[in-house]
Amino acid sequence: MNKTVLGVLASGRGSNLQSIIAAIENGRIKARIGVVITDKPDAGALVRAREAGIKAVCIDRRQCTGREEFEERLVGALKEAGVTLVILAGFMRILSPYFVREFKDHIMNIHPSLLPAFSGAHAHRDVLAYGVKVSGCTIHFVDEGMDSGPIILQDTVPVLPDDQEETLAARVLEKEHQLYPRAIELYVNGCLQVEGRHVTIKE
Ligand code: GRF
Repeated sequence: MNKTVLGVLASGRGSNLQSIIAAIENGRIKARIGVVITDKPDAGALVRAREAGIKAVCIDRRQCTGREEFEERLVGALKEAGVTLVILAGFMRILSPYFVREFKDHIMNIHPSLLPAFSGAHAHRDVLAYGVKVSGCTIHFVDEGMDSGPIILQDTVPVLPDDQEETLAARVLEKEHQLYPRAIELYVNGCLQVEGRHVTIKE
């Protein structure tokens, strides 16, 4: 069987990328990262990738004529690297149906709330404003909607009375770093079966 080739898209510090690199290095995820792509030249994810000896490129959205060119360049770079599974790890751009179709059923995202609650870019702020007692994170396949694809794994954390966005984010992030490598491991091992909205895990 051919080895899964991951393409990781990130916009920021890249701590989830780091957890995936660690899980590959320790042999838990039997795949390799073909390329890391950021949309921002100063993204920490670029540094982390290069330090791990992984090809890393920035496709700066501001230097593209529009979303179409930006996404065509993304797709081109992913295909050139032979990517078979796209991992969105803190990638702060909404991808168009064109991109989703190019890698249909082979794109995963992480979201820092228990979807479908608190989708969007300000999950922790919205969680605290609403007053829920439990939050968490979700790994899901990406479809053409926002944060709406079939859910692979979720985990929970308590929301504490004196939480600020930062303290809640840090608690959720610890779970993210466990959950994303696990979801990728399941995919790579052929353990995920998708039927409509439902993902069955067969181990
Ligand atoms: C994570 O909280 C992820 O859930 C959200 O963006 C953050 C990215 O963090 N989508 P990092 O860049 O992986 O450190």
